[in-house]
Order: sequence, then C-alpha cells, then structure tokens
Amino acid sequence: MFSKKTLVIIGILVIAAFALTACAGETGPAGPAGPEGPAGPAGPEGHAGMAPSAADLTCTECHNEGTALYVASQQWAKSLHATGTAAAYAGARSGCTGCHSSEGFTDATEIGSMEEAAAPLVASQQNCRTCHQIHTSYTGADWALSTVEPVLLVANGETFDGGKGNLCASCHQPRRAMEPGVEGMFEITSTHWGPHHGPQSTMLLGQVGAGIEDNPGRHAMVEDTCVACHLGEAKDHDMGVNYATCAECHEDAEAMVEELQAEVQELTDEVGELLEAKGLTHDGHPNPGTYPEAEAQAAWNWIYIVLEDKSMGVHNPAYTIEMLEAALDVLR
Ligand code: HEC
Ligand code: HEC
Ligand code: HEC
Ligand code: HEC
Ligand code: HEC
Ligand code: HEC
Repeated sequence: MFSKKTLVIIGILVIAAFALTACAGETGPAGPAGPEGPAGPAGPEGHAGMAPSAADLTCTECHNEGTALYVASQQWAKSLHATGTAAAYAGARSGCTGCHSSEGFTDATEIGSMEEAAAPLVASQQNCRTCHQIHTSYTGADWALSTVEPVLLVANGETFDGGKGNLCASCHQPRRAMEPGVEGMFEITSTHWGPHHGPQSTMLLGQVGAGIEDNPGRHAMVEDTCVACHLGEAKDHDMGVNYATCAECHEDAEAMVEELQAEVQELTDEVGELLEAKGLTHDGHPNPGTYPEAEAQAAWNWIYIVLEDKSMGVHNPAYTIEMLEAALDVLR
C-alpha cells in the first residue's frame, strides 16, 4: 500500500495534470506588433555623380554664347511694342486687353476672341511671350509663333489669311466698319469715332473704307504679309520696314515709297483742310455732330488713312487714292 505522503504527492500530480489538460485550449490570436527597433548605422558614402554639361540642357538652344536673343531684345526695346503707352492705359481693361496686353493676347488666342479675353490685374507690353511660345517646352521649338491661324476680322466678319502676318493681324485690325446713315445724314458720336486702331490688315485687303467698293491690293499677296515687309529675313524686331523684301518685286522701292507718299500727302492735306472747313474734324480729330452721309464717309476714309493705317498709301496704293479722290469729289 502507498504511504500517506505518497498519496498526497500523487493527489497533487493528478490535480496538476487536470489543470494542465484544462489549460491546453486553441492558440489565441497574435498580439499587436511591437514598436520599431532603432535605425541601423549609416551606410558608406556613394560615388559622386557626373555634373550635367550645359550642352545637355535644352535651355542652351536659346540661352547660349550667341547673341540672337540679345539682338532681338535690343531691336524690340526700340519698337512701340516695348515703348508705347497704350498697354498701361488699356492693357488691364476688359474689351481692350486682348490686343493691349501680353496676358490678354495669350488668353484671346486660346478662347478665339480678341474682345472677350480676361483682363489681368497688371498688364505687360507686347513682349517675347506674346508672339512666341517662350518657356512651354523649354526647347528651341518655343520660338514658334503663338498663332498663325487665319483671322476672323471683328469689323466685317471677313477672313484675313496672310501667313505669318496672321499673328500681327490678330491685333492690327479695325474694331468697326462705318454704320449706314439715316436718310442721307450721319451722326458722328465722339471725338474717337473711326476704325480704331491699326487697321493695316483691312487696308491690305481693301476693306472697311466707307462708301467705296472693296479693292484687294497686290501687297496682300506678299507671302507672310506683315512679317515679310516688317521683319523680313533679318527678323528685325524694331518692326520698321525691311526694304530687302521689296527687291523681289521692285528695283528701287525706297524711291517708289517716297513718290507715292508725296502724292498721298498732297491729297490728304487737301481733304484734311476741307474737312476742317466744313467742321467734320476739329484739330485733326472727328468733331461730333450730324452731317451729310457722303461727307461723313469722306471723314471716315481720311481718318482711316492718316490717323490709323499710317503707311500713307503703301499698304494698298490704289485703294488709298480711290478713297481720297472720292472724298475730294464730295467735299470740293
Ligand atoms: C525658345 C528659346 C528659349 C529656351 C529654350 C529657354 N528660354 Fe529662357 N528665355 C527665353 C526668352 C526669350 C526669355 C526672355 C528674355 C527677355 O525678356 O529679354 C527668357 C528668359 C529666361 C530667364 C530670365 C527670367 C525670365 O523668365 O524672364 C531665365 C532665368 C530663363 N529664361 C531660364 C531658362 C531655363 C532654365 C531654360 C531651360 C530649362 C530656358 N530658359 C529655356 C528663351 C528661351
Ligand atoms: C498683341 C497685339 C499685337 C500683336 C500680336 C502685334 N502688334 Fe503691333 N502693335 C500693337 C499695339 C497695341 C501697338 C501700339 C502700342 C502703343 O501705342 O502703345 C502696336 C504697334 C506697332 C507698330 C508701330 C506703329 C506706330 O504707330 O508707329 C508696328 C509697325 C507694329 N505694331 C507692327 C506689328 C507687326 C509687324 C506685328 C506682327 C509681327 C505686330 N505688330 C503684332 C499690338 C500688336
Ligand atoms: C482688335 C484689337 C484691339 C482692341 C480690342 C483694342 N485695340 Fe487699341 N489698338 C490696337 C492696335 C493694333 C493699336 C496700334 C495702332 C498703331 O499704332 O498703328 C492700338 C492703339 C491704341 C491706342 C493708341 C492710339 C494711337 O493712335 O496712338 C489707344 C489709346 C488704344 N488703342 C486704346 C484702346 C482701348 C481703350 C481699347 C478698349 C476699349 C482698345 N484700344 C481695344 C488694337 C486694339
Ligand atoms: C510682335 C510679335 C513679336 C514679338 C513681340 C517678338 N517676336 Fe521674335 N519673332 C516674331 C516673328 C514674326 C518672327 C519671325 C518668325 C519666322 O519668320 O518664322 C520672330 C523670330 C524670332 C527669332 C528667330 C527664331 C528662329 O526660329 O530662328 C528670335 C531669336 C526671336 N524672334 C526672338 C525674340 C525675342 C528675344 C523677343 C523678345 C525680346 C521677341 N522675339 C519678341 C515676332 C515677335
Ligand atoms: C508690301 C510690304 C508691306 C506689307 C505687306 C505690310 N506693310 Fe506695313 N508698311 C510698309 C511700308 C513701306 C510702310 C511705310 C513706312 C514709312 O512710312 O516709313 C508701312 C507702314 C506701317 C505702319 C505705320 C508705321 C509708322 O511708323 O507709322 C504700321 C503700323 C504697319 N505698316 C503695320 C503693318 C501690319 C500690321 C501689316 C500686316 C497686316 C503690314 N504693315 C503689312 C510695308 C508693308
Ligand atoms: C510680291 C511682289 C511685291 C513685293 C514683295 C512688294 N511689292 Fe510693292 N507692289 C507690287 C505690285 C504688283 C504693285 C502694283 C499693284 C498695286 O498698286 O497694288 C506694287 C506697288 C507698290 C507701290 C506703289 C507704286 C505706285 O506708285 O503705283 C509702292 C510704293 C510699293 N509697291 C512699295 C513696296 C515696298 C516698300 C515693298 C517692301 C517693303 C514692296 N512694295 C514689296 C508687288 C510687290
């Protein structure tokens, strides 16, 4: 038989065995992850990379040791695009900004309307970014012109399609044609009346003259129109006349210009005096009032030629002289 002591030990072992079998249930779910250990030591320093060569950057397609960018900037700085005061006056005004600020023009070409472009708070002059796509791809391709699309003219709904000159005609177009009169009379409503401003595109096409048949001039057919005659192969950005272009068709274009402008000057002087005498203009500007329609048409055409187109006949010699001769017939 077992001793009392042994029985006690067996009893304890049996209880312990029950206790152990009772605890051996299924394994519980894994506990939450412990906190991150400390960072390991820094690795050894790598090899230094190669510095990029300037020639690897597309920027150097324009920003380089050459002077092309500088020359164009100097020429532009002399032009009225850089020095004119109209951007400060009209650049931040809606209805004007499309032609009078760089920001407005960029918006206008995107939305396809010169007159509905959004006005910036602060306007900048016509500059490199107005006419080129500066800093869009950051390659030489950014010299591409900002638009060369044919221009739907605001004043008469006709299309100007003069190649690269379409860029210029987007802005250099009149904003209105003359309205018809009432029973042979016409009211000039303001001292700013006329085909505002820079109507060189319609002058080339022989349009927007008052009371006269359209007469497209031969100079509208010059390839790239404005750009050929005002920038030419030399791409002179002061926007003066590039006489090298004329040599293709004329032997001595400068002398021809002098002769034509002298003739046009004589005619405009006489028309100007008659308009002043009849009261349609005052100090060379329109004088508000109601006049016979034919006289108002003469005033419109004189303003178109002298105050607005400013080439004194060159853009469209035949059309210019026709308008002035018609004006003399009416006013004399
Ligand atoms: C299509 C030619 C062209 C390319 C390519 C070009 N730029 Fe320009 N950059 C210009 C013109 C144009 C101006 C304006 C100059 C002026 O107003 O007189 C200009 C001006 C600058 C200016 C002066 C500040 C400013 O914005 O007017 C800096 C800086 C500049 N560019 C840096 C760069 C860098 C960097 C790259 C390449 C990533 C680059 N450009 C690529 C034409 C270019
Ligand atoms: C964003 C509109 C805009 C574009 C595009 C534009 N111009 Fe102009 N241009 C003007 C304005 C506005 C003025 C007058 C600025 C002033 O008086 O402040 C002007 C002035 C001029 C003048 C000086 C006129 C004068 O009375 O002496 C010439 C020449 C000229 N532009 C030619 C061009 C040619 C050529 C192009 C195309 C390559 C062109 N412009 C493109 C708006 C434009
Ligand atoms: C469709 C384009 C266009 C719009 C819109 C336009 N202008 Fe102009 N404006 C021109 C051009 C181009 C010239 C430069 C004509 C030139 O010098 O041959 C000019 C010239 C001017 C001048 C200088 C006139 C001079 O004979 O020296 C003033 C001032 C002016 N604009 C005011 C305005 C105002 C104000 C508005 C808005 C109510 C406006 N413009 C809207 C194209 C426009
Ligand atoms: C009124 C519009 C106008 C403005 C403002 C203007 N340009 Fe131009 N630029 C032109 C036209 C038009 C061309 C000729 C494009 C052609 O013949 O394909 C040209 C050509 C150039 C070229 C030759 C590009 C080539 O493909 O070789 C350079 C360089 C240039 N412009 C620089 C400038 C710089 C720099 C500015 C600013 C200071 C500027 N332009 C402002 C209209 C403009
Ligand atoms: C056949 C060449 C030719 C074409 C095409 C041409 N022009 Fe002219 N432009 C001239 C000549 C020449 C003058 C007279 C310059 C003078 O009197 O010294 C002139 C005068 C001007 C003037 C007056 C400049 C001033 O200082 O008073 C402006 C503005 C002008 N042109 C803009 C344009 C625009 C914009 C276009 C396109 C819509 C254009 N021209 C198309 C040759 C041309
Ligand atoms: C593609 C050919 C061509 C180019 C380029 C050209 N012209 Fe003409 N030009 C003509 C033709 C054709 C006529 C005559 C038809 C007419 O009166 O429209 C003419 C007429 C003229 C007249 C009037 C002559 C007269 O008294 O009857 C002048 C002035 C003139 N051009 C100046 C220029 C100037 C300045 C340039 C350069 C800035 C130029 N032309 C570029 C073809 C051209």
